[in-house]
Amino acid sequence: MAPAPMPSALAFELIAKCSVTKARAATLLLPHGPVPLPIFMPVATQASLKGLTPEQLEETGCRLCLNNTYHLGLKPGQATLDAIGGAHKFQSWPHNILTDSADADVSFQMVSLLNLAKVTEEGVRFLSPHDGTPMLLTPEHSISLQNSIGSDIIMQLDDVIATTSPDLARMTEAMERSIRWLDRCIGAHKYPERQNLFCIIQGGLDLDLRRQCTKEMVARDTPGIAIGGLSGGEAKNEYCKVVDTCTGLLPEKKPRYVMGVGYPEDLVVSVALGADMFDCVWPTRTARFGNAVTSTGTLNLRHASFSQDFSPVEEGCGCVCCRPKEEGGLGITRAYIYHVAAKETAGAHLLTMHNVHYLLNLMKRARTAIVEDRYPMFLKEFFRKLYGDKK
Ligand code: GUN
Ligand code: ZN
Repeated sequence: MAPAPMPSALAFELIAKCSVTKARAATLLLPHGPVPLPIFMPVATQASLKGLTPEQLEETGCRLCLNNTYHLGLKPGQATLDAIGGAHKFQSWPHNILTDSADADVSFQMVSLLNLAKVTEEGVRFLSPHDGTPMLLTPEHSISLQNSIGSDIIMQLDDVIATTSPDLARMTEAMERSIRWLDRCIGAHKYPERQNLFCIIQGGLDLDLRRQCTKEMVARDTPGIAIGGLSGGEAKNEYCKVVDTCTGLLPEKKPRYVMGVGYPEDLVVSVALGADMFDCVWPTRTARFGNAVTSTGTLNLRHASFSQDFSPVEEGCGCVCCRPKEEGGLGITRAYIYHVAAKETAGAHLLTMHNVHYLLNLMKRARTAIVEDRYPMFLKEFFRKLYGDKK
């Protein structure tokens, strides 16, 4: 028997639906302000976006970012978080925060996917990637940490298997365990009236497992629903079938979050399949390697061909890095990034701001296109720019 439905700390306002695809435009009202959907959420590990100040993150237009439960649980630690009154105060971040149950960045996902973590019914046992200490993360402990963090959206602890795993029995076990862990998370959640717990649908690439899992999770009536276990190297058509199958069974009036997705082309296609929320470390990580995400593809500005390119990272981009000085921006050129990217952190910061702005703006443009019921045309134009007329 599923526990009684929980209260919700969000409101979901459906604004428009595409008449051809399953794309939706909505407004998600969260405890720290409204968020337009669809949305990309950047990942701010260790309570900062790898070098950006909260003001700089705000400047990109971000109103909902990810934090890592696992990192914050280690540093500053639960006692400090409780003393300060949560991660919003700790980071001076007045907007919304979403926390993953473990670690959306490297450590947990990697140990988990590389089978360095031992999963039992009790929880996930693993060695701390920081100092090798044995750790046990249970559904109850994950929720307790997320309650101390005070994030606006908290995620259930789930059992994640690489989608490419051929072991159907293990995949089934992980899916069923994730449902049992959801029930434990619901039981442990202390503040359902101010923090929204999202379930995470598992089941790998098996559409029957995904259907079963979706049905069970929808019955638990959490304020939002995530589709997990994807973006692990599966073929795009398999990915699309999973997202399409799950969204087809989800209630219309709840936000749908596809975890770990961040390539622009995956975002716009997933929106067409009815997904609303996405997160990924890729745009911020790739910035640190000198890569700029643009509408014509990803440019590596460390390439010598940019050494005398005095155009902005992307022509017409409204980010603080690309915007001309006269318009209150920094007026940074590709040549400048080329000259500082290799050795200076300034290049990485500037590209991080550009890349986050690019993805936020892509979702904003998608939303406008849905509202104006021209999303298919938007998709066509997006792919024409990306692949069609490369110089
Ligand atoms: N981040 C990307 N995919 C997943 C997933 O399946 N579960 C969790 N908890 N985090 C993720
Ligand atoms: Zn820019």
